[in-house]
Amino acid sequence: MVEACIVVTGAAGLIGASVSRRLKASGHEVIGLDHRSGPEVSLRCDLRERVQTTASLQLVNPGVVVHCAAVKNLLECENNPEVAYQVNVESTRTIGRWTSEMGAYLLFLSSDLVFGGCEGGNYSEEDIPIPIGVYATQKYEAERSLELHPAAAICRCAFVIPSSHETRVEELRREALLDEVETQSMFLHHLEYRLGRGMTTWASSRVRSNPTSLEALAAALEAVIERGLVGIFHTVGTTATSRYSLAHKFCELRGYDSALIRDFESSFSRQTRPSDCSLASADTYRKLEFNPESGDVHFLLEHW
Ligand SMILES: NC(=O)c1ccc[n+]([C@@H]2O[C@H](COP(=O)([O-])OP(=O)(O)OC[C@H]3O[C@@H](n4cnc5c(N)ncnc54)[C@H](OP(=O)(O)O)[C@@H]3O)[C@@H](O)[C@H]2O)c1
Repeated sequence: MVEACIVVTGAAGLIGASVSRRLKASGHEVIGLDHRSGPEVSLRCDLRERVQTTASLQLVNPGVVVHCAAVKNLLECENNPEVAYQVNVESTRTIGRWTSEMGAYLLFLSSDLVFGGCEGGNYSEEDIPIPIGVYATQKYEAERSLELHPAAAICRCAFVIPSSHETRVEELRREALLDEVETQSMFLHHLEYRLGRGMTTWASSRVRSNPTSLEALAAALEAVIERGLVGIFHTVGTTATSRYSLAHKFCELRGYDSALIRDFESSFSRQTRPSDCSLASADTYRKLEFNPESGDVHFLLEHW
């Protein structure tokens, strides 16, 4: 059991808030850090500011930092690469340096997109990434900045799906009205909202990744921290599929009309998203002693 205080950056975001809740429920002292407010945020800090970042860490003096903060929107990264770089790379470097010097443990959240998809998917933790696009390149540079860290875990995530109980109402409302679906952080909520109203919904059949339940991800991250694991981990669902296929399976299970699902992808997505950056995760499941069936997409849909 980790006894020192845990700082979770990006605690106003999807994964940061969830992992903060989970760690607190397990009895940890958690300080949620973000530049904006949120129910899990108790420390405001702009991670683009190196001095402020170090001072915040110094103030709390955590034994563990879970670094979830990022600029994850691909379009935002392409349009403002310098700003994204400060958050995605520089803040990781600063937190990496501080934790390394202070003997603290660091868990950094990375992405399946570090793999450019050129080699066909099913990438293992040992495969060498060849990222395409600004976001992916920055995530990989952040990973590499931690290569010499004595106590860092890099957890690659993919296509995170919050459970139906998730109550991010504002986000849901905003996203449900968008026709564009590739950046949906609440994909199943989006489907339910639109299909339930008989609205046409678009999803791409080209891009394959590993849908991952947010709750399962938070459990995996907690297990990595509890075991003090070091290295690269693929904390993702065990099924590789496209959003289009997932939407069809969702229709089958919930009785929605699958004719409302159309195969579509924007030209921006075609340029920036690899067709297959699916991850192999058997090694990570074994190290965490997790049952691979719990990461299966049918399990995810049935328990949504
Ligand atoms: N969600 C996924 O499907 C997925 C998949 C693969 C990898 N990941 C990785 O997982 C991590 C967490 O993702 P997420 O989905 O939880 O993202 P998220 O919901 O966007 O949360 C990130 C949080 O970091 C905050 N942040 C951004 N810039 C900051 C700054 N300068 N200082 C302090 N906080 C700042 C964001 O605030 P704003 O909202 O105001 O920017 C947001 O609250 C990221 O590293 C992401 O790359 C996520």
